[in-house]
Amino acid sequence: MGTQESDEQTGGTGRRALLGAAVLGAGGAVLGLPGTARAADPRHGGGRGSGVKGLPVPTVIGHRGASGHRPEHTFGAYELALDMGADIVEAGDLVPTKDGHLVCRHEPEIGGTTDVADHPEFADRKRTKLLDGVSTTGWFTEDFTLAELKTLRATERIPANRPHNTLYDGRWEIPTFEEVLRWQNEQTRKRGKQVWIYPELKHPTYFRKLGLGTEERLARLLRKYGKDRKNSPVIIQSFEPTSIQRMNRLVGNPLAVLLSGAKSRPWDFVENGDPRTTADLITPEGLKEIASYAQGIGPTLDLIIPKDSAGRLTEPTTLVRDAHRAGLILHPYTMRNENPFLPADFRKGSEPDAYGDVFGAFRAYFATGIDGVFTDHPDTGVLAREDFVNS
Ligand code: G3P
Ligand code: CA
Repeated sequence: MGTQESDEQTGGTGRRALLGAAVLGAGGAVLGLPGTARAADPRHGGGRGSGVKGLPVPTVIGHRGASGHRPEHTFGAYELALDMGADIVEAGDLVPTKDGHLVCRHEPEIGGTTDVADHPEFADRKRTKLLDGVSTTGWFTEDFTLAELKTLRATERIPANRPHNTLYDGRWEIPTFEEVLRWQNEQTRKRGKQVWIYPELKHPTYFRKLGLGTEERLARLLRKYGKDRKNSPVIIQSFEPTSIQRMNRLVGNPLAVLLSGAKSRPWDFVENGDPRTTADLITPEGLKEIASYAQGIGPTLDLIIPKDSAGRLTEPTTLVRDAHRAGLILHPYTMRNENPFLPADFRKGSEPDAYGDVFGAFRAYFATGIDGVFTDHPDTGVLAREDFVNS
C-alpha cells in the first residue's frame, strides 16, 4: 500500500542556502562543527537572520494545532498552539471542496472529525471510495461545496485517548486555508511576533485525477497574500515528492518531503510506476535528489530511532547525519503525550488516555540532532526543548 498518511494512523540552491543555518544548528552539533549549535540556540534568541533560519532549534511545530488539547484543525487548536509557544502551526492539512476551495482537514473523509453524520440532509452523500488504494467509507470534502461544509462543526477524532477534548465538540467550523492566511496576519499583528504555518498537501495525485489539482490553488493563495517567497513564513509539506517538485516550480517557499515507513511507497510513485520506496529516498543518493528541489524532510520518528518488536527504542539510524550532509533539515512526526503513542519504554501504566514520560522520549529524539518536531502537545514540546538546550 502506498502511504500519504503517517504510519501511526493507520527553488533550488538559494533556498537550500537559506536553511543552511538551521542545518548547522542542531545538525552542526551532531557533525561536531564548532560554534554552530549556539547560532540556533533559543537561549540566544533563536536562529539568526530571516526565514527558517530565524526559528528556534529544535523547532516546536503544533501538529494540526494543539490537537492534544482541542479538536484538530480548528482555530481553537491553532490559537492554543500559539498560546502554548509553538514556533510553527501546522495549519492545515489541505484538501479541496467540490467548488475548489482548500479547507483544513487531515483527509478528505470527514466522518471522523466532524458532525456530518448528524446531518440528515447529507445522509445520501455517504460513499465508499478507493483512496490511494484503500477502500474508504464516509463523507468526502470533494462532494461538498464550501457553503455546505461550513454548516458542519469539528469534533474530536480520538475521544478514547482525549476524552476532555470532546468538551469542545461542535464549537468550531472547518477553516479554509484563505481564512488561515488572514488569521496568520492577524495573529502576527496581535502577538507582535511573526506567526509561521506549515500546510500539507494531502493526496495531491488523488485530487488531480478528480480535476481538483491542489498545488496551483495553494500557489495562487500564497501569491494573493504575498507569501510565496523563500523568506515567507510558510513551509509546505507533502508525502508525494512529485507534488513538492510541482510546488518548487510554482513558488519560492521552503519545502519538505514527508517520509512514511521504510517499506512504504509514495502514492504518486505507485501511480507513475516509479518503483522506489522510502528506503530508497533516505539513501545518501535519494536525499541528494530531494535536496535538489526541497529544503527539508519530515520523516516518521521510527526512521530516526527504530523500535524493537516490543515497541522500545533501539539505536538511532544515520538519517539525521545523512540528511544534514545533503543540506536538508529534519522535522519528524509526531510526538504525543498519551501512552499508546509513546515508545513502550516511556509509557506509564496502560490507560489509553494517560500521559507517559513524554519528556524522556523528547530527550531521546532531540539528542539525535533533529531540527524540530511535530507535536500534538506544544506545551510539553516547548518545555522539553528548554530542558534540552539548558542541559
Ligand atoms: O505533517 C507531518 C505529519 O503531520 C504527517 O503526518 O498523517 O499527521 O499528516 P499526518
Ligand atoms: Ca500533516
